Amino acid sequence: MFEERAAALDEQDGLAHMRRQFVLDDAVYLDGNSLGALTRQVPGRVAEVIGREWGELRIRSWTESGWWTAPERVGDRIAPLLGAAPGQVVVGDSTSVNVFKAVVGAVRMAGEGRDEILVDEATFPADGYIAESAARMTGCTLRALPPARIPGEAGPRTALALVNHVDYRTGRLNDLPGITAALHAAGALAVWDLCHSAGALPVRLDAHGVDLAVGCTYKYLNGGPGAPAYLYVREELQARFDSPLPGWNSHAVPFGMDAAYAPADGITRGRVGTPDILSMLALEAALEVWDGVRIEAVRAKSLALGDFFLECVSACVPEGRVRCVTPAEHRLRGSQVALACADAGKVMTELIQRGVIGDFRHPDVLRFGFTPLYTSFTDVARAARVLGEVVG
Ligand SMILES: Cc1ncc(COP(=O)(O)O)c(C=O)c1O
Repeated sequence: MFEERAAALDEQDGLAHMRRQFVLDDAVYLDGNSLGALTRQVPGRVAEVIGREWGELRIRSWTESGWWTAPERVGDRIAPLLGAAPGQVVVGDSTSVNVFKAVVGAVRMAGEGRDEILVDEATFPADGYIAESAARMTGCTLRALPPARIPGEAGPRTALALVNHVDYRTGRLNDLPGITAALHAAGALAVWDLCHSAGALPVRLDAHGVDLAVGCTYKYLNGGPGAPAYLYVREELQARFDSPLPGWNSHAVPFGMDAAYAPADGITRGRVGTPDILSMLALEAALEVWDGVRIEAVRAKSLALGDFFLECVSACVPEGRVRCVTPAEHRLRGSQVALACADAGKVMTELIQRGVIGDFRHPDVLRFGFTPLYTSFTDVARAARVLGEVVG
């Protein structure tokens, strides 16, 4: 019965044609919130970069193939998905490294007497480790709080808060507009980690006046394993952004080889060293699938997939066997559903063996990510049915 409804929902799905742009097999792939699927454009483009640009043009490709300017060019390609005007996003390094640049950069911009960093207490652990280290280096104290308490706790000593837009474990969507506005009212900066929201839902960085943001490109942006991350610095702040990792690539005159550092203008000052060209150009090719896609349509389908999955789970899974830890309310939900389950590790291993790929997060969470460009309603119905068989 659910399979029939799923087929009807797939018929009406305005994004169904997008699935053909991805390399998929018979498995139900619900782990695009960890590693996005391969897009069809990428293998050919990577072969061309290796064969022609590297193999034949060699060093000339830094200029002739546009390698040198790729970090800003690919940043501008991601920007519309973040609700950012051009010139504010630079691609490179890992998310972790960009968290470091953003947090220390924000402390340096925050001004006199602001010596407190607030961090989302449920943050992805790496952000917490880096915030702690950044606090020690800058003489700040670090306070971990639930995101909902940040607006009430930010005060005259707060330099910034670092918050995950979507919680990696529970899939809870945090209130980016409200928290950003409250931080600004307290005179503090807002730094957002967009790893689990970019490419899954509208982010609207410019509209909400977000100060700095970071995110990865290997989840919903399908950039590939270890694809470079990005850093967003709001245009008005760029002249004051003092990177804790100044590099020759972010120098005003990179080939001047000057002993003294002078930062480049604009978002280029978010760069550090030589960009990872192979990964970056694979990402650039992967981003082609977004041409003509409205992120609002992606969000609508993501929520519909989540609702349908929850409905199928409650019908297929014996009562009390799993507990949904993702908020049901749309305004509080990202693009994944997380189910707490007693023997979650074993259950996920069995699901994967039966062709349903999600993942397990310690200690008891099964995560199912919905990537609307290639997840179908049929996938979701099958995943719930197989889950019911495994735990039943
Ligand atoms: C929310 C969040 N922040 C940060 C990271 C760390 O990213 P990276 O390993 O690319 O530095 C991850 C990785 O999955 C993440 O999910």
